[in-house]
Amino acid sequence: MSKNCYKSIRVSYAKGKHELGILENNFREVKENEVLVRVKYSSLNYKDALSITGKTRIIRKETLIPGLDLSGTVIQSNSKKFKKGEKVLASGAGLGEFIDGGFTEYSYVPEDVLVRIPESLNLIDTMRLGTAGFTAAIAIEKMILNKQDKISGPILVTGATGGVGSISLSILSKLGYETIALTRKKSSKKYLKSIGASQILQFEKINNNKILNTKLFSGAIDNIGGEVLDWIIKSTKDNGNIVSVGMAFDSKLETTVFPFIMRGVNILGISSTNYIGNRQRIWESLSKRYKPKNLNIINKKSISLSDISKQSKNLLLGKNTGRIIIKMY
Ligand SMILES: NC(=O)c1ccc[n+]([C@@H]2O[C@H](COP(=O)([O-])OP(=O)(O)OC[C@H]3O[C@@H](n4cnc5c(N)ncnc54)[C@H](OP(=O)(O)O)[C@@H]3O)[C@@H](O)[C@H]2O)c1
Repeated sequence: MSKNCYKSIRVSYAKGKHELGILENNFREVKENEVLVRVKYSSLNYKDALSITGKTRIIRKETLIPGLDLSGTVIQSNSKKFKKGEKVLASGAGLGEFIDGGFTEYSYVPEDVLVRIPESLNLIDTMRLGTAGFTAAIAIEKMILNKQDKISGPILVTGATGGVGSISLSILSKLGYETIALTRKKSSKKYLKSIGASQILQFEKINNNKILNTKLFSGAIDNIGGEVLDWIIKSTKDNGNIVSVGMAFDSKLETTVFPFIMRGVNILGISSTNYIGNRQRIWESLSKRYKPKNLNIINKKSISLSDISKQSKNLLLGKNTGRIIIKMY
């Protein structure tokens, strides 16, 4: 190894309050069933921005390297599953929450959270996708398993210009679904059309007085929650599937049971952290059938470790479009 130490971002609650710093770390022995990865890319997710700014406590340890995602090359291995030189990624599965995450130049990663990068993806594309892509994939897969078809009508995607929103639109359109993008950004029409939105709806004050609304879409991927999710539930066609992914607008949900018992509307949940299926299989799908056609449009911003703090504030204000990747070298 050419260096004796490496840089990483650390979030700490050691003194009872949120502290953020860039630290120099010494290398150590690689433990059993662990590999040392030279990180090339990471990505900035909504949860990472919460962690960096301290707006919400995301780390479940006193101190941790944040970052849900990383991609890089194995440089030392004490695992039977991975060997030196292999290209790998880790995404969700506790990274940046209860195990050290991706905002680092080198990472000691437990073998069970590591995924071999599929042939038709590379280090950069895996992070253009990152947790947002993984989440979009498991959300869409869950809808399809629950018999979401293409002929019943369009799928609404909220927080459309965000990471999960953009990739969901792109995958759905590739699979042949008609889509409606709900966005607060008036200037995002061209972007949303270019990544696969069939129609665009401007996010405005919602009138939520009725128990049931006119049926507008056959399903939804909701990244924002709150009264918007209530409006979605009331506006979904019979037997449609809504996946509740996020809460960028509000975590509360006040609604009635009428859409469920009168229209058979389904509300589904997903968790990229606690996903119990095979992560390698989802990444294989993201490399083939689900691979968005326009990753280079969805990700235009590449930043360094020292830019993360500023970009996190911007992201939480809802000002970003698409995905941000972090380049280590
Ligand atoms: N369940 C899971 O496993 C899982 C996994 C990943 C992410 N998430 C959650 O999903 C959500 C989206 O994540 P992301 O990474 O896509 O975030 P992101 O890139 O920051 O996108 C969020 C988007 O939501 C919209 N938005 C932001 N603030 C808003 C507000 N106050 N009111 C209304 N709309 C707002 C904006 O889109 P427009 O400007 O286009 O409206 C924004 O671009 C977050 O809540 C995140 O924690 C959950």
